[in-house]
Amino acid sequence: MSTFKAPKGTYDLLPPDSAKFLAVREAIAAPLRNSGYGYIETPGFENVELFARGVGESTDIVTKEMYVFETKGGDRLALRPETTAPVLRAVLEANLHKAGNLPVKVWYSGSQYRYERPQKGRYRHFSQVGAEAIGAEDPALDAELIILADQAYRSLGLSNFRILLNSLGDKECRPVYRAALQDFLRGLDLDEDTLRRAEINPLRVLDDKRESVQKQLGDAPLLRDYLCDACKAYHEEVRELITAAGVSFEDDPKLVRGLDYYTRTTFEFVHDGLGSQSAVGGGGRYDGLSEMIGGPALPSVGWALGVDRTVLALEAEGIELELPSTTSVFAVPLSEEARRVLFAKVTELRRNGVAADFSFGVKGLKSAMKSANRSGARFAVIAGERDLAEGVVQLKDMESGEQVAIGVNEIVAELESKLG
Ligand code: HAM
Repeated sequence: MSTFKAPKGTYDLLPPDSAKFLAVREAIAAPLRNSGYGYIETPGFENVELFARGVGESTDIVTKEMYVFETKGGDRLALRPETTAPVLRAVLEANLHKAGNLPVKVWYSGSQYRYERPQKGRYRHFSQVGAEAIGAEDPALDAELIILADQAYRSLGLSNFRILLNSLGDKECRPVYRAALQDFLRGLDLDEDTLRRAEINPLRVLDDKRESVQKQLGDAPLLRDYLCDACKAYHEEVRELITAAGVSFEDDPKLVRGLDYYTRTTFEFVHDGLGSQSAVGGGGRYDGLSEMIGGPALPSVGWALGVDRTVLALEAEGIELELPSTTSVFAVPLSEEARRVLFAKVTELRRNGVAADFSFGVKGLKSAMKSANRSGARFAVIAGERDLAEGVVQLKDMESGEQVAIGVNEIVAELESKLG
């Protein structure tokens, strides 16, 4: 063991478990690729101001959780705590929104960094797959994204999750609600910190997990009762479209999200087998974000699903993904000459698209066959001096244990035909 360990709140993805993570990323990406979303990749760090303005000066993410650093050149950067603001920044910078083809639909996959208190399901480095649809105000777009996330989870075999749905209103009705909520909160018995939050970001108080706070919130005004007609109609249309698609959801009038850019549709995917870190994904509409970061008005909607928590959800439901073994053929040479011959055969198999591996290092038959077993290969090809003298190699079916001699020159074709 080295003297170094992975930093607190992080962990390494190692084979064979890492295959599960790849499969989850792929399962989330597949429905997006199939629905007109193009792949986008942005840097792992951005100007800190992008997040301060985009995610919100008063959010926990910006005030407590960002990894901020100054470069040698004097730039103030932050490791990205989320990727919606960076994606919008990139789209604006490249003028994709001016190409006359709105909405710009993109998906991404990658690391996020938040200095949070680590616990199961909550890490300082974690991974998301996300989707953003930029530049269109259309309830069908909100519905599309919710339906695609549902499809992704279901394709993994998950069923023990719920979709919580809410509308946060727009710049017409939210300020009216905000004032009403503030009035209500001022009359409660709250500690100083919470009262301060009520002044800066009253909606966040609704999300306070403490029993002492929650029990006072029973009569809090609900945004639902303050939505303007346009927001009401928009939300009703989203609900109808999702319902028509057979996706079930729960109205959650108290759902608020930890990022300030949301307007209208907001949603969270929660899994009931995960304990306190139950949100496996979340998202919503962010019609004002573009203007918040200096762009034109570009109503948009998106989500991000947590890969780490989705893997935990699979474990909670006892789902074993069917991950086909990566190696089909494993070569076991038993002499110097056989090493050269079999290494050439492995190279040829690989060039023909057959997944093949080789027993490296000097090993006895027994330990080499152990590696062959562990590789999950369907066939082992074994050769020693005597085999080669006879112009053959041994082909062993690892399932039946049956072994036959095959001509050295026939082995590649034989394996290709056996593996279909
Ligand atoms: P978020 O709710 O902050 O939204 O994160 C989305 C998901 O990332 C969460 O539901 C969770 O699964 C995962 N996640 C967040 N923090 C952690 C953590 N510390 N450890 C493990 N997993 C975590 C966003 O990030 C928005 N950008 C989503 C969005 C996209 N909204 C619009 N477009």
